[in-house]
Amino acid sequence: MKTLVTGGAGFIGRWTVKYLLKEKYDVYVLDNLSNGEEKNIAEFKQHPYFKGFVRGDILQRDLLRVIFEEENFDICFHLASTISVQESLDNPLETFKVNIKGTFNMLEEARRKNSKIVFISTCMVYKKGNLKPIDENYPISPLSPYAASKLSAENLILSYYYAYNLPVVILRPFNTYGPYQKGNSEGGVISIFIKQNLKREALNIYGEGTQTRDFLYVEDCANFIVKAGLSDKTTGKIINAGTGKDISINELAKLIAHDGDCIHHIPHIHPQSEISKLCCDYSRAESLLGWKPKTSLRKGIAKTREWIRKQL
Ligand SMILES: NC(=O)c1ccc[n+]([C@@H]2O[C@H](COP(=O)([O-])OP(=O)(O)OC[C@H]3O[C@@H](n4cnc5c(N)ncnc54)[C@H](O)[C@@H]3O)[C@@H](O)[C@H]2O)c1
Repeated sequence: MKTLVTGGAGFIGRWTVKYLLKEKYDVYVLDNLSNGEEKNIAEFKQHPYFKGFVRGDILQRDLLRVIFEEENFDICFHLASTISVQESLDNPLETFKVNIKGTFNMLEEARRKNSKIVFISTCMVYKKGNLKPIDENYPISPLSPYAASKLSAENLILSYYYAYNLPVVILRPFNTYGPYQKGNSEGGVISIFIKQNLKREALNIYGEGTQTRDFLYVEDCANFIVKAGLSDKTTGKIINAGTGKDISINELAKLIAHDGDCIHHIPHIHPQSEISKLCCDYSRAESLLGWKPKTSLRKGIAKTREWIRKQL
């Protein structure tokens, strides 16, 4: 089987590539390196199933045409995306171009070749105000241009499933963390907190810190993405992945820093787009795929800390 991973030089992408290679699938990576890095996939370059890396953009239709024509992918794992809520508020056009037009470009090529599209959406599409774990039937709401772009892309993808019978699946991972995630504003809160803590800096929490997140360790996320992509049972479906446990950002900061004195609260930069509670109901992933997260938050944080320590 031949697979394409867009955004494969990014954080979740490189782990997805790693899992696919482990499962002996041919893997081809397309990434424009706007937020990914070639060194993230350097260790795979000698792997017999690693078929190539192209530095290119999903907005380049001609490039996509050539790659799809030459490689005849069975499955495309589509992770290439702008990922920052704040950046989407500052520059919605860029987010809409990459996440919507880029997804449309992928769909058009996939349609010509009947390649399956595995689309990586996000838990940020859900509505505020949820008290219970969120399943896939929970109401959605475009609280930011980022969320709107993912919801739009999801709808484009479903339209190709209904209209052209294209095999597709939409995945909504909850907040994912682990080694290779950036510790800056383009990264995630766990990497940012660990980096600040290792550098003996204060941890800055936006707003009250009572907002909760369900943190999914990246190897569990990549395992979910690959399992969902390879299964026929998932076609046409939307599937969540998380741990089923949420933690407030205040508690998370204490878990990482231990010392409460170095935790500061600062005004939230986008309170209007903040979701106060995010906790995943992953029963659909479990019943369809037998998937369950394996890594506890403590263990995942320890692995991430070890990796970040080596990078500093
Ligand atoms: N990190 C999370 O918590 C999380 C949670 C849910 C969903 N997601 C989704 O998972 C996917 C991967 O996210 P990530 O956290 O690994 O971020 P990331 O930024 O590390 O990965 C995205 C990759 O896409 C590449 N890219 C961006 N625009 C591109 C373009 N126009 N053409 C080609 N490549 C392009 C970037 O260079 C980067 O390598 C994204 O679709 C994101 O929305 C992430």
